[in-house]
Amino acid sequence: MKESVLDFVKIKQTAETWTREAGEYIKDQMASSSFAISTKANQHDLVTDVDKNVEAFFLDKIKKTYSDHRLMGEEGSFEEIKDLNGTVWILDPIDGTINFVHQSSHFAISIGIYQDGHPVIGIVYDVMNNDMYSSLKGEGATLNEEKIPPIINHPLNESILSFNSGWMLEDRRLERLVKEVRGVRSYGVAALEMAYVAVGKLDAYISFNLAPWDIAGGYALLVEVGGKATNYEGKPLDFLKKDTLLAASPSIHKDIFHIITK
Ligand code: IPD
Ligand code: CA
Ligand code: CA
Ligand code: CA
Repeated sequence: MKESVLDFVKIKQTAETWTREAGEYIKDQMASSSFAISTKANQHDLVTDVDKNVEAFFLDKIKKTYSDHRLMGEEGSFEEIKDLNGTVWILDPIDGTINFVHQSSHFAISIGIYQDGHPVIGIVYDVMNNDMYSSLKGEGATLNEEKIPPIINHPLNESILSFNSGWMLEDRRLERLVKEVRGVRSYGVAALEMAYVAVGKLDAYISFNLAPWDIAGGYALLVEVGGKATNYEGKPLDFLKKDTLLAASPSIHKDIFHIITK
């Protein structure tokens, strides 16, 4: 079944309600500190029971409410997804798990709802700050119901960037970038860093080896405010594989692309 615009208005409301519900569960779990923590690939890669339970919560809700929608989530449900035909929810149940475990802040629930591979709804929920960034295709993006204005193109020497420190070790051209911009930050939560670009707290976010669930929600937001996101080669993002990311205002995207391709 193909959804209409009105269907997506309702789906967005429902997704936001579920996201707030999942956020309450995460806060309760954090308060009780009783969840199990384990490493996945290496010490940089943590997962907790809470990540898995949030994904299971969305899987159950989606199956019961929208039986023809599919879920691609980080904690296992991605294995079912080999294409993006129809309506697919791309979910990171907790983006920034290391922050969740070590800092009790700066983590988000990220959802991109895509139709035939194109973003329709974006949700990035900063759980501890109760900040709901959301967007609907063609209708713009909001932060806590307030319209987010179109993205501003600052000059490079007045811009603030964020990137994953590991990428600095991989690509020494970023050293030049560090010298040319006003400041560099690293928050460790890709979805929120993309939302920060959308609201102008950051002018760009650069990272590598990001999965579709890290970027699907943030990308949906960003396009609604006139931002630009591609991989490091300037190619369109592919929501079926891991890749590099350059997300920015259009002019900063151009400036950074110029530096990193030199
Ligand atoms: C991670 C965060 C982090 C990024 C990593 C991601 P996770 O997601 O978004 O900022 O640098 O590449 O894997 O594992 O906390 O969901
Ligand atoms: Ca992870
Ligand atoms: Ca993530
Ligand atoms: Ca995650």
